[in-house]
Amino acid sequence: MAKRKKGENETVGKVAIYPGSFDPITYGHIDIVERALEIFDKVIVAIAENEEKRPLFSVEERVQMVRAFFKDAPKVMVDSFKGLLVDYVAKTNAVVIVRGLRATSDFEYEFHMASMNRSLNTHVDTLFMMTSKDYFFVSSRTIKEVARLGGAVEGLVPDLVVRRLKEKFKLPVTKRKQMGWDD
Ligand code: PNS
Repeated sequence: MAKRKKGENETVGKVAIYPGSFDPITYGHIDIVERALEIFDKVIVAIAENEEKRPLFSVEERVQMVRAFFKDAPKVMVDSFKGLLVDYVAKTNAVVIVRGLRATSDFEYEFHMASMNRSLNTHVDTLFMMTSKDYFFVSSRTIKEVARLGGAVEGLVPDLVVRRLKEKFKLPVTKRKQMGWDD
C-alpha cells in the first residue's frame, strides 16, 4: 500500500476500491465506506454493471443514488465499471479492495473472489471489514424483497433509496398508506 503518484483519477495517497453491485446501496455498505475512510485517503465506490445479475436498478440509477448520498464527502469517489475488477483496480492505481463481511456465510464467496482476484493480479489485495452489528442482517437482496412485499426498509437504506424502491415497485396507494410512506 505504497503512496502513489497522481494517476488517471488524480488520486494521491492510499486509495481503496470498494466494489459491489450496490443494487441498491444500504447503510451496511455506507458503514463500510465510512470505516474505510478512517484508514484510506480516498475510497472509490466502484459499481459493477453486471447486467447478468439482472439488477433492479440500472447502473446509472445506482451511481446516482450513491453519489447523492456521498455528495458532501470529498474523499469518496463514485464510479462504475465493466469487466474484470482487477483491470479496473489497475486503472485507478489503488492496490486494495475493501469488502464487508457479514457472517460466516459470506466467507466462502468472498474467499473465492479474493483468491481469484489475487491470482489474476498478485498486486491486488483484499481487506475485509466486519459489518457493524446494526447491519449484519442487511443485504441489498433482502431489502429489495422486503420493499417489494410492502415492508418498511427505513433506517436500513438512505431515504432517497426508500423513495426509489417505492417508485420501482409502485405499491398500491392503500399499501403505501398502511406503511406510512405517503405521510
Ligand atoms: O455486491 P456484490 O454483487 O457481492 O459484488 C460482487 C462484485 C461486483 C464485486 C464481483 O461480482 C466482481 O468483482 N465483478 C466484476 C467481474 C470480476 O472481476 N469477476 C471476477 C472476480 S471473482
